[in-house]
Amino acid sequence: MMMQEQIREEAGGAMLFDASLAPAADVRWFDRGYWQQRDALRVQSGGRGGVAVIDTPAGACVLRHYHRGGLVAKFNHDHYLWTGAAHTRSFAEFRLLAHAAGLELPAPQPVAARYRRHGLSYTADLITRRIEDAHTLAQCLAEGRLDADLARETGALVARFHREGIWHADLNAHNVLVTAGALYLIDFDRGALRTPAEAWRLANLARLRRSLVKLGAIERIADFQATIWGPLVYGYERTLGA
Ligand SMILES: Nc1ncnc2c1ncn2[C@@H]1O[C@H](COP(=O)(O)OP(=O)(O)O)[C@@H](O)[C@H]1O
Ligand SMILES: [Mg+2]
Repeated sequence: MMMQEQIREEAGGAMLFDASLAPAADVRWFDRGYWQQRDALRVQSGGRGGVAVIDTPAGACVLRHYHRGGLVAKFNHDHYLWTGAAHTRSFAEFRLLAHAAGLELPAPQPVAARYRRHGLSYTADLITRRIEDAHTLAQCLAEGRLDADLARETGALVARFHREGIWHADLNAHNVLVTAGALYLIDFDRGALRTPAEAWRLANLARLRRSLVKLGAIERIADFQATIWGPLVYGYERTLGA
């Protein structure tokens, strides 16, 4: 079904949702308590502060509150400077995911996004369809399941997005989901459409490599370069050129 973007103004903010997928979407959907009262809340650890898994009329979804990382997080953990609705983290990610869905790329399907204004700043939340029975690539590495085949598929996955000019701002092993049937890229916060250029494509790949190295891939896997990184780059190049 075609995505049908609809905006609804709320007191102190606004929400955006896909009216074809979630016609009943409501601002209460962003409130964990709302789902808890309905016995439809499951909390999942991982990521910053964890995400909530909610059973909505649009199927199982993931509810994420936008949090800052790094130093500023200490005193300003979830407030962002307001520069207009289209620039909010949640609306921007929703629209980038909708664009990816239109291209049939493997990323979470966006369901609803919202922001709330607090003077000069805002806070934001996003709801996406849950990818079921998935493990992160980081978990696969920890469990000894990252092999040349999975590495090649990961490279091909990244190339499919790059081919369409989709830049991922935080490409790391926690943002690649692996299921029995397919791989997905998630977490497009701050991602953007970019003019094709080798510099940003290589920077994305380098970030993924650093993430694997940081998770101990070199100590864990004999000859990481030949058995994992080589196949990953091979899968990437092959798909990019296809
Ligand atoms: N749509 C989704 N389906 C399944 N799991 C998800 C989904 N979105 C997020 N997750 C899980 O939650 C974790 C954190 O979400 P993510 O979007 O990466 O936010 P952040 O890294 O900012 O905390 C992911 O690593 C993944 O395990
Ligand atoms: Mg993440």
